[in-house]
Amino acid sequence: MSGRFITLEGGEGAGKTTQLTFMRDYLEQTGCRVVVTREPGGTVLGEEIRGLLLSHRHDGMSLAAETLLMFAARAEHLERVIRPALAEGRWVLCDRFTDATYAYQGGGRGLAQGRIAVLEDWVQGALRPDLTLLFDLPVMVGLARAGKRSAADRFEQEDAAFFARVRAMYLARAAQHPDRYRVVNADQPIAAVRAEVKSRLVEFLHCSPDHRSILQ
Ligand SMILES: Nc1ncnc2c1ncn2[C@@H]1O[C@H](COP(=O)(O)OP(=O)(O)OP(=O)(O)O)[C@@H](O)[C@H]1O
Ligand SMILES: [Mg+2]
Repeated sequence: MSGRFITLEGGEGAGKTTQLTFMRDYLEQTGCRVVVTREPGGTVLGEEIRGLLLSHRHDGMSLAAETLLMFAARAEHLERVIRPALAEGRWVLCDRFTDATYAYQGGGRGLAQGRIAVLEDWVQGALRPDLTLLFDLPVMVGLARAGKRSAADRFEQEDAAFFARVRAMYLARAAQHPDRYRVVNADQPIAAVRAEVKSRLVEFLHCSPDHRSILQ
């Protein structure tokens, strides 16, 4: 069986991390070998870069530095974790990936998408996720959830207008890439979101020739 690359996207508090465990368990039950990882991070160097990106010590970091650090962490992640896992036939579940750079640095902060595309092509070559679940919900609902969870990091301290731009960019990208994006209504109780995630996974497995037999 060949590996597949699945990414989870969406704004703060959308429920990505909450649904990851369910997704891993479900895919393992169907016989997939699964690697769960996240961005920025996923490697020793990447997690150190994550610390730099989220820390208030670097409030006011330049947009170029922020974007390049994201891709530095991503380059390491791809080389050490994602590509080797896919080559071994593992399914990679990644909590945020390059669509988040388009949404946050592009939509949120106004970086030209072409700049991001250059880095995407350089660092990833032709590799793109096979499936991207976009957990979509009203900004204020997500921020209220995230606010209850922990103190705001360098991104979470942005204002509602920033997160509205992030959401709009995510939805625009979902519309641009309907082949791989599936929008999940994240503004529902956890069990209802889980049911929607499951049906998206079932649908995806049905479209994966070497997995269809497992479901029959
Ligand atoms: N459907 C839901 N309804 C209500 N609360 C939820 C739901 N999903 C997750 N939560 C809660 O909201 C908080 C944020 O969820 P979670 O950490 O999964 O979001 P996230 O998308 O990973 O956010 P971030 O991007 O900030 O990492 C958690 O406390 C979680 O328990
Ligand atoms: Mg999370």
